[in-house]
Amino acid sequence: MATKKSVGALTEADLKGKKVFVRVDQNVPLDENLKVTDDTRIRASVPTIKYLMERGARIILASHLGRPKGVTPKYSLKPVVPRLSELLGVNVAMANDCIGVEVEKLISALPDGGVLLLENVRFYKEEEKNDPEFAKKLASLADLYVNDAFGTAHRAHASTEGVTKYLKPSVAGFLMQKELDYLVGAVANPKKPFAAIVGGSKVSTKIGVMESLLEKVDILILGGGMIFTFYKAQGYSVGSSLVEEDKLNLATSLLEKAKSKGVSLLLPTDVVVADKFAADAESKIVPASGIPDGWMGLDIGPDSIKSFSGTLESTKTIIWNGPMGVFEYEKFAVGTEAIAKKLADLSGSGVTTIIGGGDSVAAVEKVGLAAKMSHISTGGGASLELLEGKTLPGVLALDDA
Ligand code: 3PG
Repeated sequence: MATKKSVGALTEADLKGKKVFVRVDQNVPLDENLKVTDDTRIRASVPTIKYLMERGARIILASHLGRPKGVTPKYSLKPVVPRLSELLGVNVAMANDCIGVEVEKLISALPDGGVLLLENVRFYKEEEKNDPEFAKKLASLADLYVNDAFGTAHRAHASTEGVTKYLKPSVAGFLMQKELDYLVGAVANPKKPFAAIVGGSKVSTKIGVMESLLEKVDILILGGGMIFTFYKAQGYSVGSSLVEEDKLNLATSLLEKAKSKGVSLLLPTDVVVADKFAADAESKIVPASGIPDGWMGLDIGPDSIKSFSGTLESTKTIIWNGPMGVFEYEKFAVGTEAIAKKLADLSGSGVTTIIGGGDSVAAVEKVGLAAKMSHISTGGGASLELLEGKTLPGVLALDDA
């Protein structure tokens, strides 16, 4: 499938007094007291909602939270309301449902510029089934549709895809547009040299991304647990490091593909090995070709950090997906944090730096460098699928520009 990018924009819509159904992704982590522990996705939804408020639209927000099976109180969206209200500077009203007469009454009572958050759309199994009747009921609540839920755009669900068949216009919100501009636009037409850094524990989850990026980048840097499969494929001993035995041939063919395309593929030249998978493990630095028996690699070593950093200095665009090591453990977070710092510095000198979702975003946030990057994606699965070159159903369903 080709990647679709040019979607209709919110700015083209007539908004005064209109009921606008806005699909947001407020699937945020909650603690045991149901308090939001990371408000990134709530903050990311604010520009679109504020824009609609300022233009006198009546705003109906819909989202999922978690993967509930039926109505499950711990997956209620209510915990989102205080932070969202604070960020918007208004009292956001909360509905107990996402369809039905009570919801319709709350919508009729909304003043121009007012905001109503519907209850979790996944409390209905019809949401994930993309049931047309359910989609019609959602559509009947509003005059137009805005999709700003980039994080859920890889799901063809009733509130992300089905609803667009019954509600026109269907346009992209500002967050959706920004994500597409970076993850599709900057990747398709990068300022060169263009480098990708791909990490994470498994080759198997990153095959599509590596295959796709090999068509576009000048430099591909690999880190994380997946490197041991590449080492083993090259005949190195890897001790007790994580290896996907059934991906050894694939690793070899990716190395060959890089060579034939003239892409400089860099593997770490040294690694931090540990005697067990634990925060307090014994550790030492060894060359990539000298991992002792009984030891497992959990991070990239200092020589690799130095050479990767030097290589990145010559680039103009960098995309990063996946940590360099087990960054959840302080002892093995050095490589990931060093790469995060390098990218933050390079952003300051004009390099476009894109952090493509999931664990690498968590790592950048952990070291407080998120604001320094050109773009941090709010989508895990969605950004991975985009980088694989797939089209997201939630994007494809929107009107053309
Ligand atoms: C996410 O967190 O990746 C999105 O909100 C999608 O959630 P899902 O994987 O449960 O569909």
